[in-house]
Parts: sequence; C-alpha cells; structure tokens
Amino acid sequence: MKLSTQETPRAVLFDAYGTLFDVYSVVALAEQLFPGQGQALSVLWRDKQIEYSRLVTSSNDGAHYQPFWDLTRAGLRYACLRLKLDLTPPYEAQLMDQYRHLSAFAENHHVLQTLKGQGIQLGVLSNGDPAMLQSAVKSAGFEHLLNHVISVDTIRKYKTHPSAYALGEQATGMPARDILFVSSNGWDALAATWYGYQTLWVNRYGLPFETLGVQPTHTGSTLQDVLALFQV
Ligand code: LAC
Repeated sequence: MKLSTQETPRAVLFDAYGTLFDVYSVVALAEQLFPGQGQALSVLWRDKQIEYSRLVTSSNDGAHYQPFWDLTRAGLRYACLRLKLDLTPPYEAQLMDQYRHLSAFAENHHVLQTLKGQGIQLGVLSNGDPAMLQSAVKSAGFEHLLNHVISVDTIRKYKTHPSAYALGEQATGMPARDILFVSSNGWDALAATWYGYQTLWVNRYGLPFETLGVQPTHTGSTLQDVLALFQV
C-alpha cells in the first residue's frame, strides 16, 4: 500500500550490519578455517558482538565503551573459546579482514539508487565505527548514494540508547516521524519505533518479531520492500 504524501518519509536511514551488509557472509571463510563450525561460529560471533555493545552502553553510564571494531574482535575471540576453536593470530586477522569487506545484499544497490533518484535523503545509522563503516560502504560501492554515514562512535553509546537514534534527526535536520528507519534486526526496528521513527523491519529470515507489544510500522522481507512505501 502506498502512503499519502503527508505520511511519505522524506529521508531513509538504514542500519548497516545485517541490513545493508550480510554479516553471515563470513560463514564461508569460517567454514574453510573451522570445517563443520562455520555457521555456529558466525551466529555466536554476531550475538556476542551485539551483547557486548549492550553491556558497555548499559554499564556505568557508558564508561566501558570500546569501538565496534574492538567489540567485534572480542566477540570473535569469545565465540572461538566457547566453541573450542583454535583462533590463531593469522585466522583472527583473516576473519576480521573479511568482516571489513562484508558482502552487500544483492538488491541493495538498486534500491538506494532508485530512492536517490527520487531526491530522498539517504543515510546509514549504525553502531559501526567510522573506519569500518567507510570500508563497508566503499566495498559495496554505496559512497555516492548516501548523504549520511552516521556512526554512534561520536556519542560512545550504542543503539538502542536513545541518543544513538537522535543522531539521525540531527544529521537530517528532520524529526523522527518524517524519517523511515530500516533494519533487519528486530530489536533495532523495535527500539527505533519506540524512539518515534517510521520503521520497516526487513525480516530476511522469516523470524518472529520481538514480543514486547509494539510492532514496527511496516514489515518486509528484502530491502526492495522500501520502494513500496514511496511513489516510485
Ligand atoms: C548496526 C548493527 C547493530 O549496524 O547492525 O548498527
């Protein structure tokens, strides 16, 4: 269903990891290094990375903040210890390097290009630190399509802290209600909805939504579903 002009968002902000970039694209390398464990490692690695981001934001008013790259490495180390995998320094370097150059989902370039053609402000709002976001955006060829690449690193608080979502309003100069926030992470779509954004949850893996009562404004299954919300 298309929205009326009044409801149509004037900017779209995308989560990065899991939404624009496929964090499980490390599975192939992980599987090559640790046969039979690639899937388990990539899932546990991702979960631990996110858990650590919450831990440092909610403890002692953010005093233990570390950039997302460092939390990503810490998550990898934990996941390997937990799975009893021997993470040698060369293996760690290879896996981290792969994380720097994650694949983008196939449909993303076309979606960003189409929205840009409509004059809609586009940006990334991510927990990633500026250097890792810049590499991922560059590897995917998205540089010329994005007006904003917003990292929470400037405030040293990770999503779902409200100050992290506020960065999107500050960068675009628009209130959250005029912005569509797109994430494949259910928790991120939920917290952005709580914050006041219009939201699209891109449910790529057919998962249930978080069961805390509030629903995202829209749900889709690929990034292509963003286009259905605009007159394109
Ligand atoms: C991000 C992670 C949380 O890009 O997906 O913010």
